[in-house]
Amino acid sequence: MAEEWCLLNKDTLVIKPLKKSHLALRMFVLAAVMICGVYIFSVCLKQIGSQSMPRFVKFELTEEPCSSVGVPPSEASYLHYPKPTTYSREECACTPVRKFAILSMQRSGSGWFETLLNSHVNISSNGEIFSIKERRNNMSSIIRTLDKVYNLDWYSSASKNECTAAVGFKWMLNQGLMANHDEIVKYFNERGVYAILLFRRNLLRRLVSQLANDHDRRTKQLNGKHRAHVHSEYEANVLAKYKPTLNATELMSSLKTANECVTNALDYFNSTRHIVLYYEDLILNHTKLVDVLKFLGVPQRLMVSRHVKIHKKPLSKQVENWEDVYNAIKGTEYQSFLNADYKL
Ligand SMILES: *[C@@H]1O[C@H](CO)[C@@H](O)[C@H](O)[C@H]1NC(C)=O
Ligand SMILES: *[C@@H]1O[C@H](CO)[C@@H](O)[C@H](O)[C@H]1NC(C)=O
Ligand SMILES: *[C@@H]1O[C@H](CO)[C@@H](O)[C@H](O)[C@H]1NC(C)=O
Ligand SMILES: *[C@@H]1O[C@H](CO)[C@@H](O)[C@H](O)[C@H]1NC(C)=O
Ligand SMILES: *[C@@H]1O[C@H](CO)[C@@H](O)[C@H](O)[C@H]1NC(C)=O
Repeated sequence: MAEEWCLLNKDTLVIKPLKKSHLALRMFVLAAVMICGVYIFSVCLKQIGSQSMPRFVKFELTEEPCSSVGVPPSEASYLHYPKPTTYSREECACTPVRKFAILSMQRSGSGWFETLLNSHVNISSNGEIFSIKERRNNMSSIIRTLDKVYNLDWYSSASKNECTAAVGFKWMLNQGLMANHDEIVKYFNERGVYAILLFRRNLLRRLVSQLANDHDRRTKQLNGKHRAHVHSEYEANVLAKYKPTLNATELMSSLKTANECVTNALDYFNSTRHIVLYYEDLILNHTKLVDVLKFLGVPQRLMVSRHVKIHKKPLSKQVENWEDVYNAIKGTEYQSFLNADYKL
């Protein structure tokens, strides 16, 4: 190889070498070639360097000023600076974003809770996105969906502007959440996602609400449209008129199953950064909402919802076969569900 190099250059550099200085000339040519080679090599290096420089500079420009100075590393992993693919966050590019997920069960107040959150200017909660089966078919679909939401690329009526400071959605336990809990917990911990576990203490009331909701899905009592939530007392009263009949034989096992579901969810998600909320506490104690905003690290604001509660009467007046239900539960671990009522 070295010989070829020399031969090539000998032809161009040395035209008529004298016999006596033949060796000296050869050495001179070799040295010249080496110097030349080193020079070319260094020029090449400089070019490579200057080509990659803009990438470095850009990286620093977009990443560096956003890293919150003075924030402890444990906190920093929960502050995100997403770069949506579809638009620019512009002046809020360095407004940190928290990722959250409301983990809940049907008829546990999560719809109401989510409208409260969405009334806050800095919070965007995108609804029950995993109610669509294709999105939860397997872990790769789930991760793709999560990535899109948390990169602020998800479009829904709840999508806010580029200054969103907390982004999330609500996820029912039976929507692939429990089935894939190991990998989801891993995702939450690796990507810094906050879990808001929202449950209902009174699982008997939850069951009544569920049966009444199923009934309305079939009968569409309000102008021929099914309504899972209502916005007026009139509509609430229409829906509350229906008194479901509970299967007293199955009742205990239904309550046990629901209770186990809650216990398991609390257990699985215990290693994530989480807050546990109960619907009853939220209704009775508005300080709980202050806790939620603190947890999400967004400014304190008054939050409002247009939802009107449907079932407000004592349970005995909302169940068709109250006596059977009462007898099935009396004296069991779930006895307290029978007389726990709201004072609104
Ligand atoms: C909340 O949103 C408002 C309006 O978009 C914005 O001006 C403000 O900076 C946001 N606050 C936080 C803490 O993100
Ligand atoms: C996962 O689900 C998606 C959407 O249903 C599907 O397109 C994809 O082929 C599935 N991937 C695997 C590995 O099963
Ligand atoms: C109540 O549940 C039991 C056990 O699942 C079932 O055998 C029975 O048919 C149910 N009764 C009614 C009226 O649906
Ligand atoms: C969650 O973990 C904490 C401490 O690690 C423990 O005290 C608590 O009992 C756990 N809760 C559940 C529901 O597993
Ligand atoms: C209301 O909630 C706050 C915050 O969680 C708690 O400190 C307080 O004791 C609660 N008040 C009542 C009356 O339960």
